[in-house]
Amino acid sequence: MNMNIALVPGDGIGPDIVREAVRVLDKVAEVYGHSISYKEVDAGGVSIDKYGIPLTDSALETAASSDAVLLGAVGGPKWDHVPGNLRPEKALLGLRSGLGLFCNLRPAVIYPELADASPLKPSVISEGVDLLVVRELTGGIYFGEKGRNADGSEAFDVMKYSVKEIERIAKKAFEAARLRKKHVTLVDKANVLETSRLWRETVSAVAKEYSDVDLDCMYVDNASMQLVRDPKHFDVLLTENMFGDILSDEASMITGSIGMLASASLRDDSFGMYEPIHGSAPDIAGMNIANPVATILSAAMMLRYSFSLEKEARAIENAVASALSDGVRTRDIAATGEAAIGTAECGSEILRRIR
Ligand code: IPM
Ligand code: MG
Repeated sequence: MNMNIALVPGDGIGPDIVREAVRVLDKVAEVYGHSISYKEVDAGGVSIDKYGIPLTDSALETAASSDAVLLGAVGGPKWDHVPGNLRPEKALLGLRSGLGLFCNLRPAVIYPELADASPLKPSVISEGVDLLVVRELTGGIYFGEKGRNADGSEAFDVMKYSVKEIERIAKKAFEAARLRKKHVTLVDKANVLETSRLWRETVSAVAKEYSDVDLDCMYVDNASMQLVRDPKHFDVLLTENMFGDILSDEASMITGSIGMLASASLRDDSFGMYEPIHGSAPDIAGMNIANPVATILSAAMMLRYSFSLEKEARAIENAVASALSDGVRTRDIAATGEAAIGTAECGSEILRRIR
């Protein structure tokens, strides 16, 4: 297969980790007989520095004309002073909405080898944690009207959802649950928010088409508590945009390291954008200490969802698991006293385990 991939390294550790994912992808291509061509795209702070805006039309076009996008991370304190509508994060939001990527999948899995890294007691995670946050990504308060009144003493962000937007993401969540433990938890704030009440009605209606999948509904405050009290309750968490942002950080920490978790942002065709869920960690950029695993696992998700290369995706996931069980650790996941290796060395350890 011939794959055209747009690379968006972005800022901070973005280039460090994307580089390793590319090495691993190239190894997979070599072993399985595929060819990959890459186009680099500037987005985020790098684009602000070069072009004065976080995402140029041509960057968006290059991304849109590829088969899939692999993104590192954007942002950093260097751009903290720029006005809100020009911040590096705008690049991410611009890519998500510009490419129509309404469905964000964020799996959180505890690797048994890293169970010690979880801040939760062993008794709470003894049965493992394997959940999937299905986050609506192009609507809600992130994209609603926002602004200030004339004298600047008031600000507003509008949260709005249509039945259509809810239906399409709900279907994705039920489809995903079918391949897992057949359990969807809708997380909302239906005791307060009208949008949440529309979510409940709509998701309950969609659930009728998936009678093999259980649906329960949970208020977001309660869900944030249940996640740390009894994470095994959850299989698929279906959320609107902002709740999913918050809960996916919480879910990731349960697994011990935000440096391990991958994500896919999808629409109804095979196109997708893949990125680690962590940020750009500017304090360790270029120091060869960042953990490349989340980005490497994002590349695996890309092979699975955009190219239907399940065997190749598994090859990456198996290589990561085997490296971990052989004790390969970057600094963030090394236990105290355990030796840690660098970003590039971690990439090498994974790629030499690709079979
Ligand atoms: C994420 C990030 C982004 C979000 C930011 C950087 C805009 O936190 O992908 O979770 O809020 O969606
Ligand atoms: Mg976030």
